[in-house]
Amino acid sequence: MVDTPPFQKIMKPLIIANWKMHPQNSKDAFDLAGAVKRGIEDLEVDVVLCPPFPYISQLLPSSNMFVGAQDCFWEQEGAYTGEVSAQMLKNLGCSYVIVGHSEREKYLKETLEMGVKKLKAALQVGLIPILCIGENVEQELQEVLKKVGQKDISKIVYVYEPESAISTSENVKPVDPKAAEAAKQKIRDTIGQDVTILYGGSVNSKDVGDFLAVGFQGVLVGAASLDKGEFLALVKNAIEA
Ligand code: PGA
Repeated sequence: MVDTPPFQKIMKPLIIANWKMHPQNSKDAFDLAGAVKRGIEDLEVDVVLCPPFPYISQLLPSSNMFVGAQDCFWEQEGAYTGEVSAQMLKNLGCSYVIVGHSEREKYLKETLEMGVKKLKAALQVGLIPILCIGENVEQELQEVLKKVGQKDISKIVYVYEPESAISTSENVKPVDPKAAEAAKQKIRDTIGQDVTILYGGSVNSKDVGDFLAVGFQGVLVGAASLDKGEFLALVKNAIEA
């Protein structure tokens, strides 16, 4: 098992693939992960694959490919039908977990409060939380900062991901990198520390460089992470940005 990687002061880009509820079978998941692992070997990049839960145990991490989950529960054990704990994910070799994604709010009525509880559960076992922040940057962050200890603030990967920019939103509104840069600055100012901040929302191989050029340290990628050619082109363009 690969140790949890360092996440502070990332000099190489951090590219997180959120596969959402894809692909439909484990062979396709295995093949996609294998192609990514081979494609990024020796490249100056860290890639995190976040597959659906059933595929986690078959994706073996490498020196620059890590495995993350798309969700976890806030308790570590107990009578919580259908839930998966951060500790279980850690035991399976996960290093990261996504929390606060807008699709969980949209389809499952998950609240920010629940997201913060999940974030704390992840930190408790040494998983790196990938915290998605929407349009209300300051309000959302203030809630998080109130509940997370000072020493843990820099252990979180922050993603600015406005819901309307996600490729599957009804009226997708791509965000101009300059506007995203302003949100990134707001995140940094609100936190008051140099933390890792990524951009998410319809990022593809053609525009990834624009987001890195305005100072994001990486991206959270949904749709474009499911096609190995497109995803590897995105990774390459991120490195060259
Ligand atoms: P998208 O998804 O790249 O398909 O917009 C990103 C996400 O929701 O994490």
